[in-house]
Amino acid sequence: MRKITVINQKGGTGKTTTAVNLGAALSELGREVLLVDLDPQAGLTESLGVETAGRPTVSEVLMLEVEPREAFHALPHLTVLPSSPVLAETEKRILRDRPSDYPLALKDALAGMRGFDFVIVDCPPSLGALSLMGMVYSGSLLIPLQTQYMALNGLEKILGMVKTIREAGFPMEILGILPCMYDVRTSLSRQVEEHLRETLRDKVFRTVIRQSISLAEAPARSKDVLSYQPGGRGAEDYRALAQEVLGHG
Ligand SMILES: Nc1ncnc2c1ncn2[C@@H]1O[C@H](COP(=O)(O)OP(=O)(O)OP(=O)(O)O)[C@@H](O)[C@H]1O
Ligand SMILES: [Mg+2]
Repeated sequence: MRKITVINQKGGTGKTTTAVNLGAALSELGREVLLVDLDPQAGLTESLGVETAGRPTVSEVLMLEVEPREAFHALPHLTVLPSSPVLAETEKRILRDRPSDYPLALKDALAGMRGFDFVIVDCPPSLGALSLMGMVYSGSLLIPLQTQYMALNGLEKILGMVKTIREAGFPMEILGILPCMYDVRTSLSRQVEEHLRETLRDKVFRTVIRQSISLAEAPARSKDVLSYQPGGRGAEDYRALAQEVLGHG
């Protein structure tokens, strides 16, 4: 079972879009995929139309109140462990209940889980306790960056955190940095991509996720982009990413 945590403390860099569509593309290649929504804003849960009213979510799983599978929502091609705004309160409770080992909360909660080829964790836009739980759980990070001016800002912080976690004795690799929302019409996107590759070299995925209307529209239809527009640019880019991720395995 491979685990991947999608992380960037900056908002709106393409984390949720990447978690959903990389998951869908891996599923299309025959892999069993679990998506874990670790964001109290529950963007992943909502973008796939998963209803949580009256049902357990990742909060109850983290609190060890239910078995993970009791909170799973099975879509035709993906399984989702959903989130809800309650997760913000849950985060505080975990910090209070286990101040010294809270980073292990997700790892502990999902310890006995079997049956998936990939678990993909979507983090909130912060480097707080929930993101740390996501990092420690997988030990493998996928970092989406917007191909914009100052794209590299903030990366230092993530890399610093990676170092601290490693020093605490947990394995932690950067699976890859993913240039997202690439605007094919501007030279700025190309310049930013070149700068990323010069600076971070083989840490940057060969795949680039281009801007596409289908990627922006699919969540409003409660769909991943491969179901929404299978022949489009967004589907094509996330299929390429899935192939690359399989190659990294
Ligand atoms: N390649 C793309 N082309 C066009 N729109 C995109 C693309 N990637 C993401 N978007 C859109 O940009 C917005 C932000 O993307 P997304 O929600 O994936 O970012 P995020 O990093 O998860 O944000 P947050 O930090 O708030 O959780 C969404 O409306 C999404 O549909
Ligand atoms: Mg998000």
